[in-house]
Amino acid sequence: MEISIAIDGPSGSGKSTTARRVAQRLNIYYIDTGAMYRAVALLSMRKNIDLEDKDEISRLSKETNIEFGQITGEDSQKVFLNNEEVTDLIRTNEVDEIVSEVASIPEVREIMLNKQRELARKSGVVMEGRDIGSRVLPGADLKIYLTASLNTRARRRFRELKEKGKQIDFAKVKDNIRLRDEQDKSRSHSPLVRPDDAIEIKTDDFGPNKVVEKIIELIKKEV
Ligand code: DC
Repeated sequence: MEISIAIDGPSGSGKSTTARRVAQRLNIYYIDTGAMYRAVALLSMRKNIDLEDKDEISRLSKETNIEFGQITGEDSQKVFLNNEEVTDLIRTNEVDEIVSEVASIPEVREIMLNKQRELARKSGVVMEGRDIGSRVLPGADLKIYLTASLNTRARRRFRELKEKGKQIDFAKVKDNIRLRDEQDKSRSHSPLVRPDDAIEIKTDDFGPNKVVEKIIELIKKEV
């Protein structure tokens, strides 16, 4: 049986950096499930599909091939959509604005769920998202729930966008995160929840290294 670690939490709670580093330490795969929903959102945008046209978006996600490359540097893993590298293209503010809507379509979630479980069957994984511990991998060896205040999370996202040379208003970034939180928590199909058996870690005052160390300790103790 391969090891599986589930890391959930809202946008900007530090999931991606943490999950990637834990996977590197354990030398197992890192799966960013948000990137999968982002890839479907990007494709829908490119094809000018109306967000109301859920059937068409579902059909598209069934035919879409999403693959992850190796972890290349400190903070990046390449993402491929139908063999095209879209690592940066799925992280624009335009994709941010529509991705929750795409991720709320039950058929799209069902298709992604199957792809995600298949990845976890094949190898050891650190999988991050919103519904990993609650739905995708309910039997995960360890479940972590990361949180941070809205302000901390907006600051992190703002810094990330600025580093990429994007001109964007802090208030807009914060509003965007607030809106996504609401959508992720209130959707009827697999909303963002903290599973009862998850260990919660607040990341406001910790850098990623501290959080990673804590998770590695937990793995040594509990897995
Ligand atoms: O983690 P992220 O910001 O890249 O996620 C993008 C969007 O996808 C976000 O609105 C939440 C949604 N998502 C989800 O619904 N379920 C997941 N397992 C992962 C992400």
